Amino acid sequence: MSNAEIGLIGLGTMGAMLALNIAEKGFPIAVWNRTTATTHSFFAGAGELAQRITPTDTLTDLVAAIKPPRAIILMVPAGPAVDEQIAALTPLLSPGDMIIDAGNANFHDTDRRAADTAKGGPRFLGIGVSGGEEGARHGPSIMGGGQREDWDRVAPILRAISAKYEGEPCATYMGPAGAGHFVKAVHNGIEYADMQMIAEVYGALRDGMGMSATAIAEVFRRWNTGPLQSYLIEISGEVAAAADPLTGKPMLDLILDRAGQKGTGRWTVIEAQQLAAPVTVIEAAVAARNLSARLAERQIGEATFGPAPQHLAPGALTVDTLQQALMAGKILCYAQGFAMIQDAAKAFDWPLPLPDIARVWREGCIIRSAMLNDMASALSAHPGQNLMLAPAFTERLKATHGALRETVALAARQGLPMPALSAGLAYFDIMRTARSTANMIQGQRDFFGAHGFDRTDGADHHHGPWGGHF
Ligand code: 6PG
Repeated sequence: MSNAEIGLIGLGTMGAMLALNIAEKGFPIAVWNRTTATTHSFFAGAGELAQRITPTDTLTDLVAAIKPPRAIILMVPAGPAVDEQIAALTPLLSPGDMIIDAGNANFHDTDRRAADTAKGGPRFLGIGVSGGEEGARHGPSIMGGGQREDWDRVAPILRAISAKYEGEPCATYMGPAGAGHFVKAVHNGIEYADMQMIAEVYGALRDGMGMSATAIAEVFRRWNTGPLQSYLIEISGEVAAAADPLTGKPMLDLILDRAGQKGTGRWTVIEAQQLAAPVTVIEAAVAARNLSARLAERQIGEATFGPAPQHLAPGALTVDTLQQALMAGKILCYAQGFAMIQDAAKAFDWPLPLPDIARVWREGCIIRSAMLNDMASALSAHPGQNLMLAPAFTERLKATHGALRETVALAARQGLPMPALSAGLAYFDIMRTARSTANMIQGQRDFFGAHGFDRTDGADHHHGPWGGHF
C-alpha cells in the first residue's frame, strides 16, 4: 500500500537516526537497506515509531510503499555508491519522483546528478545535513540545493525534522544544483578550522602552561558560558574531562595525536583555490590534520632537532588572553568562509544567501555557536561586506587582535605550533595594510615576463627600466 510520505535508503547510523526523526515528526516513512537484516533489526528497534515505518526488502517494494510523486532520501556513503543507487532506483521511478541525496557529497557530483534531471533522470535535490548522529535523530541543520519547486515540495518535512533556533527551523534553500552541498562543504572547512584553533589553544594550556586535562576542561566549561559559547567548545570541555575506563587517567592524554578526515575540509580548500578566495585559516587546519597523520616523521624530527621549549614563563600568557585570541581567530576564519561563499555566489550565479547561511548554522550543526546569531545580523545589515568590517565585528576585532598577536608571538618564541591562529593573524595584518609588498611581486613579474604593472602615480608607463630589457 502506498501510504508513506517519503522513503529512505541506507540505514547506517545517520540514515537510521534520520528515519526515526522523520517518523517521530509524524511522517509515515518507507525504508530499505542493501542488507535486509539491517532493515529488520532497525524496524524491530523502532519502538512506538514502528507504526509509521514501512520496512521493505526490495527496491520495488520501497517504491511501491511511497505515495506518488515520490521523494526518496539516500543516506549512503558519498561517491560511487550514490551513483550506483541512483542507477538502480531510476528505472523504478515515475515522472515527478525525486531523489534526495542527504550524504556528504562533493558538490560537483551533485551538480552533475542534478543536470541529469534535464536529460530525463529523476528530479534531484542535494541536501547538506550537519549535526552527527544526535543531530540526525533530534534535529540537524539542513542546507538545500536543487530546483526551488522540488525543495518547496519536501520543505515541510525537512523543516519539521530540522533543528530549531528560537522556534525557527534550521533548514534553508541555498540555491540550484550543488549549492546545498557547497555550503555544507564550507561548513565542514570552518568545522576543521574551529577544531584546529581550539586544539592550538589546548596546546598552549597543556604544553605552555602545564595544565592538566581536568584543569583545561574547567577552562573550556567557563568559556562556554561567554562569547565563545559553542558546541565545539562544549564538547572539547567534555573530552578533556572524561576519564579512561581502563586506567582512570584522563582519556584525552591517552588518545593518539593522529587526526583522521574524510576529505570535506580538503574540498573546501581546493574550491577556495579555484575561486581565488583566501581561506587561509581553513587551509592551515587541513594541513595541520595532514601533518598530524605523519606521526613517525614527527618523531624523527623531534629526535633530530630536539623538542621545542614550549613552556611559557609563569604569567607570560593568561587564560583570558587565550580566550580573546580564540575569539579573534574565529571571527577572522568566519570572515574568510563567508567571503568565499560570496565569491562562489558570483562565480556560479547562485543566490547563496549569507545571512540565512549564518542562521541555518545557529542550531543543529557542528559549528553552532552564539556568535553565529550576531554574524547573521551583521551580514544582513551590511550585505556584501567582509564580516571583519561589519561594525559589531570590527569592534570585537579591535578588542581582541592584540591578544591574538601576543598569543601567536609567544607561541612562535617557544615553539608551540599555532598554524591556524597564525594564519588568522597574517590575514588580519594583510587586510589592514593599505600599502602591501605586492609592488615587489609586480616588479619581479615585469622583470622576467614583461607582465606590466599599474603605477601609484597613474602615469602612462607600465614597464620597468630593467637593465635595458624593455
Ligand atoms: C557534520 C560533520 C559530519 C562529519 C564529517 C567530517 O556536519 O555533521 O561535518 O559531516 O563530521 O564527516 O568528518 P571528517 O573530520 O572525518 O572529515
